[in-house]
Amino acid sequence: MDKMIIRGGARLIGEVQIGGAKNAALPLFMAALLTRDPIRLRNVPALRDINTVEKLLRNMGIRVERKGAEALVQAESLDTIEAPYDLVRTMRASILVLGPLLARAHEAKVSLPGGCAIGTRPINLHLDGFQALGAEIELEHGYIHARAEKLVGTTIDLPLPTVTGTENLMMAAALAEGTTVIENAAREPEVVEVGNFINRMGGRISGLGTKTLVIEGVGALHGTEYTIMPDRVEAATYMVAAGMTRGNLLLRGARAEHLTAVIDKLREAGMEIHQENGGIRCLITGPIKSVDAKTLPYPGFPTDVQAQLMAMMCFANGLSVISETVFENRFMHVSELKRMGADIQVEGHSAIVRGLGELSGAPVMATDLRASASLVLAGLAANGTTEISRIYHLDRGYERMEEKLRAVGADIQRVKA
Ligand code: EPU
Repeated sequence: MDKMIIRGGARLIGEVQIGGAKNAALPLFMAALLTRDPIRLRNVPALRDINTVEKLLRNMGIRVERKGAEALVQAESLDTIEAPYDLVRTMRASILVLGPLLARAHEAKVSLPGGCAIGTRPINLHLDGFQALGAEIELEHGYIHARAEKLVGTTIDLPLPTVTGTENLMMAAALAEGTTVIENAAREPEVVEVGNFINRMGGRISGLGTKTLVIEGVGALHGTEYTIMPDRVEAATYMVAAGMTRGNLLLRGARAEHLTAVIDKLREAGMEIHQENGGIRCLITGPIKSVDAKTLPYPGFPTDVQAQLMAMMCFANGLSVISETVFENRFMHVSELKRMGADIQVEGHSAIVRGLGELSGAPVMATDLRASASLVLAGLAANGTTEISRIYHLDRGYERMEEKLRAVGADIQRVKA
């Protein structure tokens, strides 16, 4: 297993190109199942999760060609309707294949994803929604077996605005008979992206970006070309990096309108952030200030940036309370940050960070994607050397992270196992 070795202290100065959004790209690859025509995707990020989705589709007999940031996906015919355990266990988002398969092939067998490092993460809302659309669902031998001769539009009121649940149901409803209304739908930009993409394929979805989605089923969808939106979590991570290293970064391609809650919070923490020449400029001149934050569904402060903000708060001088309301157990980074000298106490769903103005380098272990990112940030700003093991988590969601960081002055190296 590769390791990352970071010698902290360098100010990050320069430009970082933000890649395509992982959490938009994944459902778009799956949505290609909704038509026999070719789908061309641009701005596809170079990530391990994207390799996994490609494997999953190829395993079904689907043509997937990839050249740099461009991908061609064509699901002319399917060899199997199964998403096997060995792929699903490496990427929970594999569950996104269920909706498109049901719509396209009327049947799907997808391994149950199981728990993960950030909590139990059930998929009951996906399954309840498919049942409401007319699917029969059985759980057998660790697999979800879903069947539907036809899917029929209905009203689905989600108890929680689940992101992939909304996407999954929207993809299935796009080819259902009649109209589906999803109430309390997720409003994340990635959900809007999936809706826009389906509309480009000939779908009829309205209400995107609001809590009520109306999906008029169509008889068939056709091929299209689409450029994937920039990754707002990658952008937020580099924003925090600029603040923590007292640097000055221009994040090329990042879209401020997707990052309002993050930008507001980082400004409160003392950063200067503004739009400039096709990107976002971020820097800090004064001290890092302690701020409180509470994660919420979009447009609230994203859970995917909670760990990074916590790392930053270790470098403030004062108390900060960070509450996680989206996931039950997303504080795996706390014990690792403590190894670097952080003073953090977890009480229920909140972490109380007593900022000491510094951390010291230490050997730490990556546990999930965003927790790993917070350790990289902590290492960049810490005194001395930080060695992060299990960095395969990072490769799932951060494209060439060490290259991008080195290009703006970081002393970071990947050591091959
Ligand atoms: N939930 C249920 N039942 C369900 C579905 C969700 O109880 O059937 C609960 C979850 O346990 C959680 C809450 O609802 O407490 C919200 O979860 P959601 O379903 O919205 O999360 P997700 O769709 O599984 C996506 C992203 C995550 C991101 C969350 C929240 C993708 C592929 N994943 O997950 O991204 O944290 O939304 O914004 O889009 C990451 O990129 O590192 C990542 C974890």
